[in-house]
Amino acid sequence: MIDLNFKYKTLLDFLKNEAPFVPELSIILGSGLGDFAEQLQLHKSISTADIPGYPASTVVGHKGKIHFAEYQNKKIILFQGRIHFYEGYNITDCILPVLISYKLRTKYLLLTNAAGGINKNFIPGDLMLTTSLNGIMIKKELTKLIGLANLRGKNNFLHLPDNDFNNLIKSAAQSENIKLQEGVYWYTKGPTYETPAEIRFFEKFGADAVGMSTVHEAVYSSYLGIKTAAISVITNYAAGISNQKLSHSEVTETADRVKDTFARLIKAVINAL
Ligand code: HPA
Repeated sequence: MIDLNFKYKTLLDFLKNEAPFVPELSIILGSGLGDFAEQLQLHKSISTADIPGYPASTVVGHKGKIHFAEYQNKKIILFQGRIHFYEGYNITDCILPVLISYKLRTKYLLLTNAAGGINKNFIPGDLMLTTSLNGIMIKKELTKLIGLANLRGKNNFLHLPDNDFNNLIKSAAQSENIKLQEGVYWYTKGPTYETPAEIRFFEKFGADAVGMSTVHEAVYSSYLGIKTAAISVITNYAAGISNQKLSHSEVTETADRVKDTFARLIKAVINAL
């Protein structure tokens, strides 16, 4: 088991020192969703490049900023850009936003991502609340952080996502008249998109949507006792669901098209906390 307090001591001390307040909510913004930061009152913004030991994001649409922000008197830490396993980073790097949120004593973590839609009732632009987060291989990686002894025989995080938090998100969507799909998210490492046969495989395993992030962040956060939920923007039909070729630009374009609805939902969620 890796001692993260030791490995990231300088980084964590730096951020504890910089943090202007204790954030109640932490939000990680997924691919193409970074513009949401502009919707909040920003108290302090830090470039991750200026944080000692923070990994550099290599993905287009991930800005690499941490914001301390406020909306309706709620204090928020906002990660504009995430660290993906497919970028070659270790699991210890991928969960850094979660670890930072925990060290700053955040109560809630809202994970957002772009995902490919597998469920035939989903269309690109839909928002989906995850009812279950899955990824056998990535969860195995977490033993390095959580320790085998703490995981063996446990109920595989059946309490994830947090039920009360999910209900709060559903009510927030209703109050704003926003259509919110619900579904099962499956992690795939990427960085390439899937083949149609891989998507049929995921479909057989109960997936409504597929993406390259979130599951490990959610499991670790839930393990640390943070109330955790995740919202996907369905940016495209998953491979083979339509004949169209997948591209990262389609992902960021769809995310951009629905950014106002996405922002309305997240603001309503913040309001309801
Ligand atoms: N597959 C995997 N990850 C994704 C997709 C997809 O189709 N769309 C956005 N992220």
